[in-house]
Amino acid sequence: MRNSSQMKLTDARRDFYRKLAKNVGFRSRSAYKLLQLNKSYHIIRHGDRVVDIGSYPGGWLQVAKDLVGKDGLVIGTDIKQIDKLEGVLCLNYSIEDPELQAYLTRHIGRVDVVLSDLSPNISGIWEVDHFTQINLSRMAFNLASVVLRGNGSSIYKVFDGDTLSAFVKEVSTQFHRVKISKPAASRQSSSESYLVCSGFREQS
Ligand SMILES: C[S@@+](CC[C@H](N)C(=O)[O-])C[C@H]1O[C@@H](n2cnc3c(N)ncnc32)[C@H](O)[C@@H]1O
Repeated sequence: MRNSSQMKLTDARRDFYRKLAKNVGFRSRSAYKLLQLNKSYHIIRHGDRVVDIGSYPGGWLQVAKDLVGKDGLVIGTDIKQIDKLEGVLCLNYSIEDPELQAYLTRHIGRVDVVLSDLSPNISGIWEVDHFTQINLSRMAFNLASVVLRGNGSSIYKVFDGDTLSAFVKEVSTQFHRVKISKPAASRQSSSESYLVCSGFREQS
């Protein structure tokens, strides 16, 4: 149980990133999570081709677009319609729709990075939210296993809970390096963290 001064600190931190995002013109506070993860792990590089799953409203897309520059490519998809963002290809597929994989395979080909900040509608029942969220992340991981180039990288949001370690094990069979990280912009009280994966083992 958090005491009131801890809660005030958490609220202040959330407020800080929300205000910062608004002033800078980021579409979401989450943009800072990707910036902080990338500062530590250098997942997205200039010229990369990046697919971002669960990208509405588009804070991560803005950050990714900036990092890859003119020579790169950024594609975002979400069940919610993403407002147009210059230089980014915005799609409207669910991760559960097989057409998403078909589209990427047919029109885009292999990519350097797959990002997933997927989050379900929160029910408030911890076990249910954990289970649903890990299932979404697993679908993103399955898609990444098809579209990532050898030695490519991925980031998956994960909610803490009973099935997390099994998911980390699954992911670890496909990547040489997997780290669990919680960026400063993520609320300390939230159960989310991120699997930062690099060195994708290409399927033969
Ligand atoms: C935390 S938000 C993403 C925020 C985003 N990274 C940003 O920086 O603006 C999680 C997103 O996952 C999306 N989502 C949930 N279920 C999905 C699904 N089945 N397929 C695609 N997107 C989904 C939600 O619509 C929501 O926009």
